[in-house]
Amino acid sequence: MFKTLILALAVAAQAPGVLGYQLQPRGVVNRDPYPFCNTKTNPNCIAGGKYLVPILDFSVQRSAGDLAYAKYLPTHNFTLSAWPRGKMPEPCYRWGVTADHWKPADFTMYNVTFTDCAGSPWVVCFNKHSPRTIKQIAKEISRIPAAMRQSTSLYLVYGDQQTDNPQYGGYIGTLAADGLVVGRSVAYFATSLVHETGHAVDSNLASPNAPRPGTGAAFSASPAWRDAVRADGYAVSAYGAGSHVEDFAETGRAVLLDTIYPGGLKALTGNNPNLTQIANQLAAFRKVAGGFYRLDRKCDLRRKFPFPTRLVNV
Ligand SMILES: *[C@@H]1O[C@H](CO)[C@@H](O)[C@H](O)[C@H]1NC(C)=O
Ligand SMILES: *[C@@H]1O[C@H](CO)[C@@H](O)[C@H](O)[C@H]1NC(C)=O
Ligand SMILES: *[C@@H]1O[C@H](CO)[C@@H](O)[C@H](O)[C@H]1NC(C)=O
Repeated sequence: MFKTLILALAVAAQAPGVLGYQLQPRGVVNRDPYPFCNTKTNPNCIAGGKYLVPILDFSVQRSAGDLAYAKYLPTHNFTLSAWPRGKMPEPCYRWGVTADHWKPADFTMYNVTFTDCAGSPWVVCFNKHSPRTIKQIAKEISRIPAAMRQSTSLYLVYGDQQTDNPQYGGYIGTLAADGLVVGRSVAYFATSLVHETGHAVDSNLASPNAPRPGTGAAFSASPAWRDAVRADGYAVSAYGAGSHVEDFAETGRAVLLDTIYPGGLKALTGNNPNLTQIANQLAAFRKVAGGFYRLDRKCDLRRKFPFPTRLVNV
C-alpha cells in the first residue's frame, strides 16, 4: 500500500566534532542519492555499506512514511506561554547564536505544555524569520509520542531562507547531550522529527550508562548494537548506512511505523522478502527503546530531559 520512491534519501551526514547529528535534505550532500556507503570515503560507514533493498523510504515530507506518520501519530493539544524578553536558554544561545550566527534579539522563547505531559513544558526558541508559526511547529512536535519526546527538552527553530542568515547552511539536527533539536522551520515535519528524536532517545533514554539524561554514551556505540548490525550485514536505509547513530535513528522509524500501524513494515511494497535482513537490529532496538516508541505512554518525569535552567541574558 505504500509506494517505494527511489530518489528519496541523502547520504548520511554527521556534524563534525560535536554530538550533533544532521539530517540533510536530498541532494545537499551528494548528487547521487544511493551510493552504497564506502569506508574509503566515509570511515563511519557500517556493515560494508549495504542497506535494506528496497529501501524503507520515509525521509522526505509527504513520502510514504511521512504520510503514514502524519496519519497515525495523533497530535496533542498544547498551551503556549511566551517568556518575557531578556533571557535565553544557554543551549539555544550556544547553538543558535554562537555556532549558527542568528541574532539573539530575533528569538522569542515559549513554554509549550502538551496535554500528554501536563505540568512539564518543553521550550521552543523561535526565530522571527520562521515562516511557520509557533503553533504550526508545536503541533508537529506534539505528534512525537510523549515517551519518545521526553528525550528532549528544547527546540530551536530558524528561518528557511538563506538570506535570513547567510552564515547558516544547515537543515535539521540533534544535539542529544543538550536534549535539543535544531532546524529550519520547513524541516519540522513528522518523519524528520521521528528521526531526530531517535538520536535523543539513543543518547538519553537507551544509553547503557547515563546516570541522568545527556551524560552517557549512545546505545548505538555499544557492542550490543554493533553486534546486531554486524549479524544483519545491512543497514536499515541508505541514510542509516552512513553511521551507527544514523542507523539507530532509522531503525526507530521502522519500529515506530510498525507500532502505530501493525504490519506497517511489511506493507511497504517489496520489502516483505527482505525484512529479515534487519531482524537483529529490529530486535536490539525494541529491547532498549521499544517501550518509548509507543503511543499509549505518558511522559515519565523521572526520565524526562531536564527543563533548561541555565539562562543567558540577551
Ligand atoms: C533483497 O535484497 C537483495 C540484496 O540486497 C536484493 O538483491 C534484492 O533485489 C532485494 N529484493 C527485492 C524484492 O528488492
Ligand atoms: C483538544 O482541544 C480541542 C479544542 O479545544 C478539544 O475539542 C479536544 O477535546 C481537545 N483534546 C484533548 C485530547 O484534550
Ligand atoms: C516556563 O516553565 C517553567 C518550568 O515549569 C516555569 O518555571 C516558568 O515560570 C515558565 N515560564 C513561563 C513564561 O511560562
